[in-house]
Amino acid sequence: MTLDPTPLAAHEISFFKRHGYLIKRRAIDRARCDRALDRMWESAPASIRRDDPETWRPVPASEASDDPLLTLGGSRWQLRAAGTEAALVDIVWNAPLKGWAEQLLGAGSLRPPRVGGQPMGSWGAAWPGGPVDPQLGEGVRGIYATLPEREALAGAGDHLHTDGHPFHLGVVCLLSDCPADSGAFRVWPGSHRRFYPLFQLQYDQARAPYYPHLPSLKGILYPPAYLEEVGKVEADTPSVDCHGAAGDVVFWHHRLGHMAGRNLSDPPHIRQALLYDFCKTDLDQTRLDPPQADMWRDWSEEVRTTDADIPPQFAAEQMLPLPLLGHGAGIPGARGG
Ligand SMILES: [Fe+2]
Repeated sequence: MTLDPTPLAAHEISFFKRHGYLIKRRAIDRARCDRALDRMWESAPASIRRDDPETWRPVPASEASDDPLLTLGGSRWQLRAAGTEAALVDIVWNAPLKGWAEQLLGAGSLRPPRVGGQPMGSWGAAWPGGPVDPQLGEGVRGIYATLPEREALAGAGDHLHTDGHPFHLGVVCLLSDCPADSGAFRVWPGSHRRFYPLFQLQYDQARAPYYPHLPSLKGILYPPAYLEEVGKVEADTPSVDCHGAAGDVVFWHHRLGHMAGRNLSDPPHIRQALLYDFCKTDLDQTRLDPPQADMWRDWSEEVRTTDADIPPQFAAEQMLPLPLLGHGAGIPGARGG
């Protein structure tokens, strides 16, 4: 079943260019969401029961696992082993999501996922103690559940990061209803335009190799100008909690500041979302380039040329904080700063 095959409107494309994210409501039909959820719950820790919200608590230490194919611990329950199964791949590689991604990045330009291929997590972490690298995987990232952790997280601050692996367009798909402050994807609007110019390469982030006998340096290297800008963005930009209903999705630019939202829900909800990164087939060439004067060079002609007014009502539907309403007006391809 296909929901809303209508192409993105000009004001939606302009909103994405200016603010770096775009929420589409009811983009995935309920049957697809439920199939994916059924698959997720097959991997549930014994102490967490689908029909008993009283058990929706952080994973006990006795059931924690750092297996990248099924990571369990604290509020995190991340099933990656199913990332190349048809039920999950079909959600992103189908109308309408694939069509919208092609509209943004160019028809026929996307690298297809491979049903039955190697899921993310098959290669382990990017470096010891580091995250799993989503570029190493042939399907969706997986289904990421965030369990309520109200006591531990109350009062903790919100801090953004950008992803260190190369890709073009992320999408987070809510598989079940997710109220406000319940772990939804959180974004810092417009930060993609500020962060994009600050890296050496337009898609990658430099990494230091890890040596067991030289353990002090490992992982991703952060340009000083980027770290400075992170502080400024956190101070001057209100973030958006992309909460919503089952079937809602949020597209996001690869340099957008974001975080996995904290789940403070009470009564308890489990944030259950499917994540995927759309990549173009020419990434192996374009990743060699530094940030471009036109940060939309590698995107579709339609994206490069669209500069439409954004109706205030639409911005409100996107939950854009009021102070940001005028930001970027007239400079949809703005070069950071
Ligand atoms: Fe991230």
